[in-house]
Amino acid sequence: MKLLVINGPNLNFLGIREKEVYGNQDYQFLLSLISEKAKKENITIEPFQSNCEGQIIDRIQEAYFDGTQGIIINPGAFTHYSYAIRDALASMDMPKIEVHISNVHKREEFRNVSVTAPVCTGQVVGLGLHGYILAVDAILNMIQ
Ligand code: DQA
Repeated sequence: MKLLVINGPNLNFLGIREKEVYGNQDYQFLLSLISEKAKKENITIEPFQSNCEGQIIDRIQEAYFDGTQGIIINPGAFTHYSYAIRDALASMDMPKIEVHISNVHKREEFRNVSVTAPVCTGQVVGLGLHGYILAVDAILNMIQ
């Protein structure tokens, strides 16, 4: 079983950026959380982070060929306006979960809209880094 976890722009700055919103733990901590979960479930989880829209699209397309069975994606601010990432996700016929660390629904109005969520299977919002673990559980539940 192989899952892909994609993090979009500025998520490499966890632990540095707006700690009151995203918490004190850094991106390395998130990576260790994901790798522990992979070990526990005896599956492969490949993390990918990019600040560039095109690189995220390229990685989603790569997943079509590399045996990936499910995608967890936090598109960062691209969530709110990237039709190109939405289209890339739409072409993938597998479970896809959108994750947001913060509760985007109780923040600025522009964050209330997700152009990517309608082409995802589900969404985990506002539960901090634990949201990524819940997303893995959700996909495992769907596939196994
Ligand atoms: C975010 C929410 C987005 O609005 C923001 O641009 C981010 C992080 C979250 O995880 O809460 O970069 O996706």
